Amino acid sequence: MINQNSKIIDLNVKKESKILDFSDFQKQPIKFDISKLQEAYQQIINIKKFEDAGVTHFGAISLTQIPGDPDSIKGNKARGIFWTKPDKSGKEVTRDESLDESAYSEFITDYKNTYFKEVYDALSKKYKLGRVRILLKEPRSTLSWHRDPEPRLHIPIITNPGCIMVIDNVAKHMPADGSVWVTNNTKYHNAFNGGEENRIHLVACVLDYKFN
Ligand SMILES: [Fe+2]
Repeated sequence: MINQNSKIIDLNVKKESKILDFSDFQKQPIKFDISKLQEAYQQIINIKKFEDAGVTHFGAISLTQIPGDPDSIKGNKARGIFWTKPDKSGKEVTRDESLDESAYSEFITDYKNTYFKEVYDALSKKYKLGRVRILLKEPRSTLSWHRDPEPRLHIPIITNPGCIMVIDNVAKHMPADGSVWVTNNTKYHNAFNGGEENRIHLVACVLDYKFN
């Protein structure tokens, strides 16, 4: 009997390690200076307030816009289209409006003297980017369970161990050490901040990144 039980446990462990596949979180072969990122973030919040885009415990500051069009980053446009399953029916619904991500090609002049311009230039050489935003997730808060039209590039700037992103059934903390991640946001996902400080990430829409 005892032997049988331990066999069952062994089988479960093997099964679990097979399920945990982190391929929807891809660390990129590029890194930035975390001190400079944090300094640039402080410079920006001295001159600009977060847009809440109608979402609680969330904030966005856009670093790029449609050339010459400051309205392109206001209100709902700080958010963008997504799909969610909001109730017990499990039926998917569309929220917000579709944006032409590729049109967001102008780095906003107010932030040109910060390290983010250097980061943006380096990323633009490597990826076809849509909107680039600084996103705030407040303490003890979550997003909706949703999917987005394209993958996202993340550079954590301020985080804590309780900040976890969940894609499908896999959860991961991305440390604020200058690393760059591309996450498969075309699958259902969420992010929560279970800490007691704000979580700040640079998040860019990536238009030419394919997951297997
Ligand atoms: Fe998302």
